[in-house]
Amino acid sequence: MESGAIFAGLQPNFSAVLCSSRCTSALLPPIFADKRQLCAPSLKLRKRSHFPTYSSNNVGAASLASNVTCELADIDWDNLGFGFMPTDYMYIMKCLQGGDFSKGELQRFGNIELIPSAGVLNYGQGLFDGLKAYRKQDGNILLFRPEENALRLRMGAERMCMPSPTVEQFVEAVKVTVQANERWIPPPCKGSLYIRPLLMGSGAVLSVTPAPEYTFLIYVSPVGNYFKEGLAPINLVIETELHRATPGGTGGVKTIGNYAAVLKAQTAAKAKGYSDVLYLDSVHKRYLEEVSSCNIFLVKDNVLSTPAITGTILPGITRKSIIDVARSQGFQVEERQITVDELFDADEVFCTGTAVVISPVGSVTYLGKRVSYGNEGIGVVAQQLYSSLTRLQMGLTKDTMDWVVELN
Ligand SMILES: Cc1ncc(COP(=O)(O)O)c(C=O)c1O
Repeated sequence: MESGAIFAGLQPNFSAVLCSSRCTSALLPPIFADKRQLCAPSLKLRKRSHFPTYSSNNVGAASLASNVTCELADIDWDNLGFGFMPTDYMYIMKCLQGGDFSKGELQRFGNIELIPSAGVLNYGQGLFDGLKAYRKQDGNILLFRPEENALRLRMGAERMCMPSPTVEQFVEAVKVTVQANERWIPPPCKGSLYIRPLLMGSGAVLSVTPAPEYTFLIYVSPVGNYFKEGLAPINLVIETELHRATPGGTGGVKTIGNYAAVLKAQTAAKAKGYSDVLYLDSVHKRYLEEVSSCNIFLVKDNVLSTPAITGTILPGITRKSIIDVARSQGFQVEERQITVDELFDADEVFCTGTAVVISPVGSVTYLGKRVSYGNEGIGVVAQQLYSSLTRLQMGLTKDTMDWVVELN
């Protein structure tokens, strides 16, 4: 099916919510063309002269007028959750096994075609990543450490026998996709644009073997809080029978199968009223690993501890950033083995991840024993680190770490 056709049915009403910021439109797509007159004339667009020209069956972006303005998408920006919402464009780039990625292009967002014998469908040869774009008060758009996601994708690709885009290709693709979907970036402080890069074996296989062709794809969706609790504490339960990762396995990379593997424990936990599952190491069943989609930290006095990266835990970019921010603020940070017993002695526990940023943990239940933290609120240390990191990510504070990439 032609993706534009699917997309056309999803067009929001353009009549509302004037964009208070400058909206991008060097990439102004056909769907905007007949809406240009709706755009506020006083708002100036940024011209993106570095954009490539796309082939005619895709986005004829560079050829479109740039001195026009556009509106924010007409959605309820005050009630964004962490659910998928289709946007305008996705980015696609392909590569043959043994070759290099090239000729990436924007396409209208829509379904993709895969041969039934694609490596990703049959043998799970696939990776994803996740990062966010924020809209600043001045209208500029910020990315947070996108080259870290690129490096992590490359590391994962190596483990999964896949070629991967270069760091430069990855970052450029992210920028182009975000700019093309700019009207979907929430207004400042309402949320962010979640960016989801995928890398998959799209070529046909029958025996267990690396696919002959690979597809790199990026789509985006506006998001609010990941946990419905928001910054309110979440309640975790420790899983002792089901494991998400084993030594020598793929727990340390963002391969798609790792996430299917947590669904059973997560679904059972949610049915019992918990927010998510905290996993132990699968060998000793004694050391903390991580939550289904975030890393974990314990606070005791002035010391932060987090499980060391040993191959079974995802090396989170938020984790890495929080470690640096905490150290810069005088905290001692230890990356080490943490026994489950230490949970009972901690002052605070919190999770980190792109989706949650920081999520305070209100309680952990282990073999029927529940330990609670704080008084139903976020702990002092978690709050301090959350503020520091989110202010950086949103451009509200000077970026002394050189982590923020500004699109202008
Ligand atoms: C299993 C797992 N652990 C930790 C994280 C946190 O990583 P990051 O901070 O890079 O989002 C994620 C999210 O990507 C994850 O899926």
